[in-house]
Amino acid sequence: MTKQRVLTGITTTGTPHLGNYVGAIRPAIEASRETNNESFYFLADFHALIKCQDPAAVHQSTKEIAATWLALGLDTDNAVFYRQSDVPEIPELTWVLNCICAKGLMNRAHAYKAAVDANIEEGEDADKAITMGLFSYPVLMAADILMFGANKVPVGKDQIQHVEMARDMAQRFNHIYCKKNPLLTLPDYQVDEDAAILQGLDGRKMSKSYGNTIPLFLPEKKLQKHINKIKTNLLEPGEAKDPDTSAVFQIWKAFATAEQTAEMRQAFADGIGWGDAKKKLFGLINEEIAESRERYEDLLARPVDIEAELQKGAEKARAVSRPMLAQVREAIGISGLK
Ligand code: TRP
Repeated sequence: MTKQRVLTGITTTGTPHLGNYVGAIRPAIEASRETNNESFYFLADFHALIKCQDPAAVHQSTKEIAATWLALGLDTDNAVFYRQSDVPEIPELTWVLNCICAKGLMNRAHAYKAAVDANIEEGEDADKAITMGLFSYPVLMAADILMFGANKVPVGKDQIQHVEMARDMAQRFNHIYCKKNPLLTLPDYQVDEDAAILQGLDGRKMSKSYGNTIPLFLPEKKLQKHINKIKTNLLEPGEAKDPDTSAVFQIWKAFATAEQTAEMRQAFADGIGWGDAKKKLFGLINEEIAESRERYEDLLARPVDIEAELQKGAEKARAVSRPMLAQVREAIGISGLK
C-alpha cells in the first residue's frame, strides 16, 4: 500500500494554548506515529505576515511553536517538520498558481469576504486595509499543499474552503499543462469531528481572538491561576452541578480517561465545590504536560537546537520540493534551452 501523505501548516502567530493542543497538536503528533502515514508539518511563517507585521512577535511565535511541537514528542525522524520560508520552491510555485487561479475564486474566499463585508458595514472603502497577501492567501496555501503531493490535509472547519480551492487549482493546472500525466495530486481536507473543541475561560470556544485562552506551557502557579479564572456559576459546595454546561467539566473531559470523566460527572452530581474541581483539573492537566513543559523550557533556552531540527526538516522537505518544482517548470515551458 502506498503511504498517505498528510500535511498541515501552523501559522506562526501567538503562543500555543490548551485549545490548540487538544484540537490540533495532540492529534497531529499521534498521527505522525502511524507508520502508514507520511506526515509533513510546517510553520507557516509567510502566512503569519498576513496577520501580523510585528517582526519580534513573528520570530518569537515561530520559536515557541517549534519548541512546543518538539517538546511534545513529535518524532522528526518519522515526520518532516520544517519552516515554510526555508523552502524557496513554495513561493515560486505560488506565482505559477497565481497565473492559473481565477480571481473570481479568490473573491469568494471567506476570510477576504468577511473583511470586505466589515468595511462596507462600517461605511468604509470596501478594500480598506486589505492587502494582496490576505486576498491571495489561499494561493500560497495551495502551493504549500500541492508542492508535497499531500493526500490529506487536517484542518479546522474554517480552512475547508482553502483546501477545496487548492484542489481546484490542482485540477486546473493539470488540465492546462499535463492532461495526460497529471502532475499535481488532488488533496482532501480532513476535519476531525472527534477532536475536542475546548471552551475558554469565558465558556466560548477557546480562541486567541476572544482573549480567553489558557497558554499550554505556563509555570505551574500561573496555570493554576488561569484555571481558577474559568467562569463558573454561584452554586456552593454541596449543591449538585450540571457538568454539561460547565467549562471546567468540558476541559476535564479533554484530558481525562473515560473512567476519570465518569468519576467527575459523579462528583458534579454530588456537589463538588468549584475550587475543588479546579484544583483537580489543574492536577490532571499538569500531569499530562509537566514533562513536556520541562523539555519546552529547555529548548527555548537553546534556540540553536530548535534551528538544527528545522534545518534537518528543511533538507528533507526540499528533497521533495526541488524535483517537484523542476517538473512544474518543465510542464509550463520554463526550462533550460536545448
Ligand atoms: N491557513 C492555515 C491556518 O490558518 C495554516 C496553513 C497554511 C495550512 N498553509 C497550510 C494548513 C497548508 C494546511 C495546509 O490554520
